[in-house]
Amino acid sequence: MQDTAKKTKVETPVNQTSMPVPRRPARAELVWEGKYDAQGRRLAPLRVALPFQTVETVNESAQERQRGFMFESPAAYNSKEWRNRLIWGDKKYVLPSLLAEFAGKINLIYIDPPFDTGADFSFTATVPDYPDTSDDSFTFIKEPSFIEHKAYRDIWGGAQTHLDAYLKWFYETAVLLHELLHENGSLYVHLDWHVCHYAKSVLDEVFSPDNFRNEIIWKRTSGHSDAARYGNTHDVIFFYAKSANAAWNDPYQEYEKEYIEQYYRYSDSDGRKWMSGDLGAAGLQGGGYDYVWKGIRRTWRLPQTTMERLDREGRLYYTKPAGIPRIKRYHDESKGMPAQDIWADIESLRSWHKERLGYDTQKPEALLQRIVKASSNENDLVLDCFCGSGTTAAVAEKLNRRWIAGDLGRFAIHTTRKRLLSISGVRPFIVQNLGKYERQVWAGAQFGEANGDKAAERQRAYVGFILKLAQATPLNGYAWLHGLKGGRMVHVGAVDAPVSGGDITAIAGEFKRAVGTGKEAPKTNGVDVLGWDFAFELNEVYKQQAAAANIQMRFLRIPRDVMDKHAMEQGDIHFFELGALAVSVKVQKRDVILRLTDFVIPPDDVPEDARRAVKHWSQWIDYWAVDWDNKGDTFHNEWQTYRTRKDTTLALETTHLYMEPGQYTVVVKVIDILGNDTTKTLKVKVSNHAAQTPT
Ligand SMILES: C[S@@+](CC[C@H](N)C(=O)[O-])C[C@H]1O[C@@H](n2cnc3c(N)ncnc32)[C@H](O)[C@@H]1O
Repeated sequence: MQDTAKKTKVETPVNQTSMPVPRRPARAELVWEGKYDAQGRRLAPLRVALPFQTVETVNESAQERQRGFMFESPAAYNSKEWRNRLIWGDKKYVLPSLLAEFAGKINLIYIDPPFDTGADFSFTATVPDYPDTSDDSFTFIKEPSFIEHKAYRDIWGGAQTHLDAYLKWFYETAVLLHELLHENGSLYVHLDWHVCHYAKSVLDEVFSPDNFRNEIIWKRTSGHSDAARYGNTHDVIFFYAKSANAAWNDPYQEYEKEYIEQYYRYSDSDGRKWMSGDLGAAGLQGGGYDYVWKGIRRTWRLPQTTMERLDREGRLYYTKPAGIPRIKRYHDESKGMPAQDIWADIESLRSWHKERLGYDTQKPEALLQRIVKASSNENDLVLDCFCGSGTTAAVAEKLNRRWIAGDLGRFAIHTTRKRLLSISGVRPFIVQNLGKYERQVWAGAQFGEANGDKAAERQRAYVGFILKLAQATPLNGYAWLHGLKGGRMVHVGAVDAPVSGGDITAIAGEFKRAVGTGKEAPKTNGVDVLGWDFAFELNEVYKQQAAAANIQMRFLRIPRDVMDKHAMEQGDIHFFELGALAVSVKVQKRDVILRLTDFVIPPDDVPEDARRAVKHWSQWIDYWAVDWDNKGDTFHNEWQTYRTRKDTTLALETTHLYMEPGQYTVVVKVIDILGNDTTKTLKVKVSNHAAQTPT
């Protein structure tokens, strides 16, 4: 993995800062708990600037890869080598981390933030048919993880009410978005009745009421009856500009049916509808053209040559012979009606719509198209930090804008990645996260800074904390073996680095030396390695090496929920074993044929009935990709295949032709139907001559 800003210092947020802004007494304002400190000073949002880690490049050409361009410096932003960015992370960290590079540079922001408890994080997962031809697909609701719930409510601040907490969260978002916007930029915030009235006050405060442009009413559904109230059929989209100079391209919308019937009343024999237009110059600015047309002298709206052309084209008509001509304005040539602030012409997505991806809160592309076209120009930069299924990114991509899209949900990131890949000619993009940096911030706040005299103390506190959550007993006297659970030794991986092959060798070495040495010596041959991240090759290669040395090693993931004190209080922490993937390799001269032969999904919140519905391991797999020449860095997605709504089948085999003979490291990445990824590393040797057996 590569970091985009290696030199950025990771700061630990101790408290939010108070700005020395006294409470303004004479202005109507919305106040929520936590808006001011005890001295009446405004609290500013948390600003932790973390470096982004690039975990994947997608669609990069071989030449681009060769150049090794990986966003090492902010200067890259201005270079030709811009890469669109898909970022997995909480906006709380993502937005401040974007500031260093993008403050004042984003041209358009659309957000569709969550506003209903947790609902935005659960999603419908689909177990596809097996065999591919049968019709036995099965869906289940993947409930939100604790950390996802928490991100919605963001109750770290411990506000009195749900609304106070939400407003604090929303205000912090608005402030950072305002800083990210370009002087000519615009913000669109998509909400509904739950919070929109409060949010408007917050946005007025941050953007100034002078910069408020519209409250757009999006009629997302047709009439229905709601018990004891009027049917609720619309969402609200607030549109703010950063300044009076915001980009604006007049948007048009389709005329309504009634309008067409009323005004486009005439039609030609081929069915083309038209309305009749006056050709007199009355009311025309700058006067008109004075000449005689077919015996009638008038001041006309058009010059004589244009009139002659229209006549030739059959676009003039006369209400009576030798009468005054009128012009035919064809419906199919009209740009439509200038868009108004009530949008009733864009349908929300239904199950039969082709663009639907099974992401419950997905918005229609037509909605984003109108926004992106009206408030940005080609090559502008568009941001959506709650991207969900990736509608904003997909529309920006199709309309030739640059984009940054982020989301906290793993499934959202995966859905967006697949959606972008399905756009023909999609430009290369990168997938990033804040991974280890987010954990460092958490560990710094929880156990103290990593540097200085306190480093050993901090490490002990961290290891003790994880062991307690894993219900293991701490061990003394070992460097790599930290605890004991059910007769198995336990190792706790570092906060800021993946568990590596070197770590495994050291753990195994210490384990061997410890056997039979005293009362805390290993009693079984089992070792559990708990880690936040694991190097690509670990699960298979090192597990087998350990097994050869008679150590039964298991790799368990430390869940992100650990960083949530409420999850801990509720004892809601589960350590799951990594998914396991088996791949067979056949080498024929310079052709390498890979075939997936088995996959075990990490048992991460998969309900029992879903497990029962699966008849074949391949049903767990939604997508897989291959990096044919990994150099131990970022995963470069050079080939991929995946299920789509239209084609739910999945190829399990692929072939690659190497241009040069040699030894290559191949990384295979599988993404399961819940959005988790599992990788496997293989070494292949290709030659111009005889087939080689892979190692
Ligand atoms: C209403 S959905 C967005 C749907 C999107 N407009 C679309 O068309 O698919 C809201 C998204 O916000 C994400 N989210 C919620 N809290 C977040 C946070 N603190 N940081 C980043 N993303 C968050 C959720 O995972 C969810 O995908």
